[in-house]
Amino acid sequence: MNRNLTLEFVRVTEAAALAAGRWIGRGDEKAADHAAVESMRKTFDSIEFDGRIVIGEGERDEAPMLYIGEKVGSGTGAKVEIAVDPLEGTTITATGRSEALAVIAASDEGGLLHAPDTYMNKIAVGPGARGAIDITKSPTWNIREVARALKKEIDDLLVVILDRPRHAELIAEVRSTGARIRLIGDGDVSAAVATAIDDSGVDLLIGSGGAPEGVIAAAALRCLGGDMQGVLMFRHDTERARAKAMGITDENKVYGLTDLAKGNVMFVATGVTNGSFLSGVRYFGGGAHTHSIIMRSETGTIREIRAKHQFDRKPRYGW
Ligand code: FBP
Repeated sequence: MNRNLTLEFVRVTEAAALAAGRWIGRGDEKAADHAAVESMRKTFDSIEFDGRIVIGEGERDEAPMLYIGEKVGSGTGAKVEIAVDPLEGTTITATGRSEALAVIAASDEGGLLHAPDTYMNKIAVGPGARGAIDITKSPTWNIREVARALKKEIDDLLVVILDRPRHAELIAEVRSTGARIRLIGDGDVSAAVATAIDDSGVDLLIGSGGAPEGVIAAAALRCLGGDMQGVLMFRHDTERARAKAMGITDENKVYGLTDLAKGNVMFVATGVTNGSFLSGVRYFGGGAHTHSIIMRSETGTIREIRAKHQFDRKPRYGW
């Protein structure tokens, strides 16, 4: 994969963030998502690469743009598999809360798990606790091991969990260990990535969220030197059948970090609303500022890009 693609892809997440940013707090999740998708789709085609969406907005019959299997880019140059979440945190954006991102992960062919749109039970940590997690063991066991690896008291750990009724037992167990919890309304990609960002204060993400989001987060954690494990969760036979059609043969498989994202991977994200490691889009008269992070697993280089966009001097990709 051409290393410069990360620098090109940041235009794509910036465009999606700028488009979605117009919908912050306006109570319309669909419009926010649609704006991000449309803008991301258009911007992809301004880049010279031969891309194929492997994680996107859904199957071809249910998503008009950025559907699984859709070709993106000029069609020439490097063959790249792409996972997109044009707006990770539709509700966050519609309600003006924090941690919404526009995000892309990319790999050479076969690098990203073609995850079905089901839930995934996940556990994610930063580099300091790499190797200290085991999703087949209890949350209590994992919390003890992560605290040991990070040389922290359990009371000083901050665990992020999606605030969902399905997590009631998990939350009770984590509380019983004495660890602190941040319950989030949405946005477990940002939370998983935050475990590996030095000053985010987040140590551990546990619980179930979207499987596609799990793969995208895994790409970031590969670049950042963190760790993650996931197990797919199925609510009914239709989900099972869909997973089977996508090549999943073992429903109970424990996916390690490199099962989720292997080989050379890239991760690119732009903040839509303010978050633990990215600022959200800020508009000024005639333009806007964006804040993005780009990274590659091959070198582990992390770049932050703050951009000032002048709306009257650029072709507008839907924003
Ligand atoms: P959307 O942006 O698609 O709304 O996803 C937000 C999110 O919170 C993800 O971060 C998370 O993985 C998933 O939804 C959790 O799903 P659910 O809301 O069904 O618990």
